[in-house]
Amino acid sequence: MKVTVVGAGNVGATCADVLATREIANEVVLLDIKEGYAEGKALDIWETAPINLYDTRTIGSTNDYSKTADSEVVVITSGLPRKPGMSRDDLIATNAGIVKSVTENVIKYSPNAKIIVVSNPLDVMTYCAYLSAKVDSSKVFGMAGILDTARYRAFLAEALDVSPKDIQAVLMGGHGDTMVPLPRYTTVGGIPVTELIDSEKLDAIVERTKKGGGEIVNLLGTSAWYAPGAAAAQMVEAIVRDQKRVFPVCAWLDGQYGLKNIYLGVPVKLGKNGIEEIIELQLNDAEKALLADSAKAVREVMDVLDNMNSVQA
Ligand code: NAI
Ligand code: 2OP
Repeated sequence: MKVTVVGAGNVGATCADVLATREIANEVVLLDIKEGYAEGKALDIWETAPINLYDTRTIGSTNDYSKTADSEVVVITSGLPRKPGMSRDDLIATNAGIVKSVTENVIKYSPNAKIIVVSNPLDVMTYCAYLSAKVDSSKVFGMAGILDTARYRAFLAEALDVSPKDIQAVLMGGHGDTMVPLPRYTTVGGIPVTELIDSEKLDAIVERTKKGGGEIVNLLGTSAWYAPGAAAAQMVEAIVRDQKRVFPVCAWLDGQYGLKNIYLGVPVKLGKNGIEEIIELQLNDAEKALLADSAKAVREVMDVLDNMNSVQA
């Protein structure tokens, strides 16, 4: 069983490494447009197999999509990352062109693949891939919620001095500053988090989570890759092992939460068919209002993409 990762940069190579080390696929194809780059990264990853004791083969390709044929899952990480001072939305024009051409190539060789988009601005790049792939929306979705909840859970684990394994959380909305962490749905070993931490500290953690991507950009001068790569690999695992995991995923909404024709982060069930169910939480009025704000922000950037497409058409 084959999984392709497009983009052999920071996030793509990390994702491929996790997929290989954890034997999530039998074969991982890493593809990049830069001559020799994916081959070099793939060879380096493959050379860890005798050390880390796994069998997954990782191979690289410079833009030869025939090597990706019949992939069960394709992760798209190709595109520019943020630099300090940039928002994810600043990347739209360049990354939309990249995501469109990559998706068209991917689907030509793997028409049944489930496509996980990672490139930013995430919600709109997922929409772009969906428009380009012309397949059912259950097969095209984006990675953001697992990363954003991982940040939230990591910050909570630190503040409460507990294992991050015991923190369960869900977060909704777009992958940007309007994301909607949901303290009401956050538990620590089954205990509502609100019983363990005062509201001021929790609010500060929610705010830090919303700006979690920017915090790393400011430290590194580019965006994060360890947690994003691992998060995308976790989604691949849920699909190829048909785990029916419940994760926040950027999914196409068709009336759920009163929202239609928009990609937005919501809890879903992820299995061999891709998104197998969108789970509708009973949000309260305040949560609904935050989700509506987030949807409005994503919709504005989707409109930019739609306008670009109508100019090009
Ligand atoms: P990077 O610059 O390290 O890697 C991007 C790779 O894409 C480069 O190797 C480049 O050669 C390749 N590429 C560019 N055009 C291509 C094409 N047409 N075909 C194939 N490969 C192509 O960037 P990094 O840090 O890996 O980030 C990748 C993307 O993921 C960025 O857009 C970034 O903003 C986004 N990102 C999204 C996250 C999320 O939560 N959804 C988290 C972290 C990053
Ligand atoms: C992140 O959240 C920038 O989207 C990227 O790390």
